[in-house]
Amino acid sequence: MEYLDLAKMRNSCRRYTNEEVCEEDLNKIILAANSAPIGSSRYDDIHLTIVKNRKILDELAIAVQERFKDKETIAKIIGTVNGPEVPTKGKDDPFYHAPVVIFISHRKQDLQPGIEWANVSAVALSMQLEAISLGLGSCFMWGALEASRVLPKFDRTSLLNLPDDFEPLLGLAIGHPAMETKEKVLNTDKIKVNEL
Ligand SMILES: Cc1cc2nc3c(=O)[nH]c(=O)nc-3n(C[C@H](O)[C@H](O)[C@H](O)COP(=O)(O)O)c2cc1C
Repeated sequence: MEYLDLAKMRNSCRRYTNEEVCEEDLNKIILAANSAPIGSSRYDDIHLTIVKNRKILDELAIAVQERFKDKETIAKIIGTVNGPEVPTKGKDDPFYHAPVVIFISHRKQDLQPGIEWANVSAVALSMQLEAISLGLGSCFMWGALEASRVLPKFDRTSLLNLPDDFEPLLGLAIGHPAMETKEKVLNTDKIKVNEL
């Protein structure tokens, strides 16, 4: 498949069926994660946690509900984000009832400030593209982890059973889409470009 044909099918899925994601597909998604580019090839700095246990996701969902009590900040976020990613009033499940969420964690480090965010994004996109190619739906998950980062009482490291020096930064919800994925029209002007 041409890459841009895959890109036309890439979207953020926010409605899933109850069907589980089979182990074969999950393994391919993990393989895709391992194919991602990582700064200085420090793959040991990345850790993945496959979560199917709803209780764990519910704990993080509670963090989102608590976060939504800070209406002023949430209003600022909603004011700048034109998408449904901010669940209204914390009532909604931030994971959209996806049957599996893969959390991407990074070793805490200050050797190369900021590189952890770039690394986890590369891993998440690689997994998302594989999910799309398998006919699965997926969505980056920032909100739930941000809420639990801002509210220190939610100990995400122990919740995800991570080594002490790792921090979960991003997640990818994955499942079978409840709606047919429509092919997108791609264009070159969503992101501004200058040329020198
Ligand atoms: C770093 C990052 C974090 C995101 N976090 C969330 C999230 O927490 N919840 C959500 O519903 N969507 C989230 N998204 C999805 C974006 O809203 C989505 O990619 C954007 O609106 C473009 O839509 P598309 O992916 O369907 O093309 C995130 C995307 C990125 C890149």
